[in-house]
Amino acid sequence: MTDSLIRGRLLSFKRAPLAMTDTDSYLYEHDGALLVSGGRITATGDYAQVKAQATADVEEIDHRPHLILPGLIDTHVHFPQMQVIASYAGNLLEWLNTYTFPEECRFVESDHATRIATHFYDEFLRHGTTTAVAYCSVHKTSADAFFAEAMKRNMCMVGGKVMMDRNAPQGLLDTAEMGYDETRAVIAEWHGKGRNHVAITPRFAITSTPGQMKAAEALAQEFPDLFIQTHLSENHDEIKYTAELYPEATDYTDIYARYGLLGKKTLLGHAIHLSEREADALSEAGSIAVHCPTSNLFLGSGLFPLKALRRREKPVRVSVATDIGGGSSYSMLKTMDEAYKIQQLLGERLNPLESYYLMTRGNAEALGMEADIGTLDIGSMADLVILDAGSTPAMRLRMETVKTLPEELFLLQTMGDDRAVVETYVAGKAMKTGLGGDEMQTGAVEA
Ligand code: GUN
Ligand code: FE
Repeated sequence: MTDSLIRGRLLSFKRAPLAMTDTDSYLYEHDGALLVSGGRITATGDYAQVKAQATADVEEIDHRPHLILPGLIDTHVHFPQMQVIASYAGNLLEWLNTYTFPEECRFVESDHATRIATHFYDEFLRHGTTTAVAYCSVHKTSADAFFAEAMKRNMCMVGGKVMMDRNAPQGLLDTAEMGYDETRAVIAEWHGKGRNHVAITPRFAITSTPGQMKAAEALAQEFPDLFIQTHLSENHDEIKYTAELYPEATDYTDIYARYGLLGKKTLLGHAIHLSEREADALSEAGSIAVHCPTSNLFLGSGLFPLKALRRREKPVRVSVATDIGGGSSYSMLKTMDEAYKIQQLLGERLNPLESYYLMTRGNAEALGMEADIGTLDIGSMADLVILDAGSTPAMRLRMETVKTLPEELFLLQTMGDDRAVVETYVAGKAMKTGLGGDEMQTGAVEA
């Protein structure tokens, strides 16, 4: 493969920005370029200087005047819920029981799982997301389809076969033993293959018996390097029911702690309604509270105190995510637009630099993967997104009055979506252009 030289305006974060004026927190190169060799970034910086390091046969791609950022990262998404988005429910438990569980039952069929996996990666690439942390369904077939398609596209993906052995339809249940055995089988077949990472995935305490939690604990002990993902404190009725199922636990967080599931590689979806004790426990364990703003608003779950959790004396690590299909958009730009509005309602400010840090380096740090993804540093994989803040007439009109980089980023976040994504690169390969067309047909609908 010949090397490529990708030219445009580079933006990459060095650390979390402390304020809008914190220009030391990021690298911005107005006429910049990346030299990509073997899928990795081998030189970065000013175009002329980077070009001087390239060989004569380098393939040059000019994305000026667009921005080049590290590929966006989504730290919580449900692969089998693509056809659940936009389901009309009053709250989390109604939404799960009425729409989500029946839909996930279909993933026992590997043809269905394979078809949806194709759409899943197409949609992420269309929206500039190059890494995601996903829940598959309870069926091993769904994890097989998820990881096989990721490998085809050379994408860095984290995923897990969901463990759930109660409080769901029969077609969506394993047992403590099956959950253990099949998770082991998924690890053996997929972990470390291509850019795949397997996560131990007990869905949440409501759908796992204490016996299955013990099985998850055993897996966590056997495979201490694996991610663990589950849901925590999303909705008041969920929290109440969980407390009834685990009366011996101090609180919801304590359930996971009792089964040895809280560590630095644990991702806890939502974590909205935490007590001070629970926030301390997460902070001490180094576990990550995953903020899913579009989902929290869509399901009416609550307002996640992102800023307050980060500035505690014992700060809680946070990441951001879509939570498709409780979430309502695949776009991480839209996700941060909604995250901003949630902080507004809480009387807090989430500045755009912080939002872009979170979507890129911040989420990579939450996964401990910042050496590989989430920055434009030399040695990183060339997973990139190219963003155009003038992708619609209304955005172009507004851009006429934009003077600074933070203003441009804020406009992109507030008005942008997949149309603002000019291209998405995975390991140096352009992936958005050339995505298959839409072969789907909508059925006849009734009034
Ligand atoms: N809690 C348990 N399962 C789910 C799920 O699929 N989506 C959301 N949003 N919350 C959950
Ligand atoms: Fe979720």
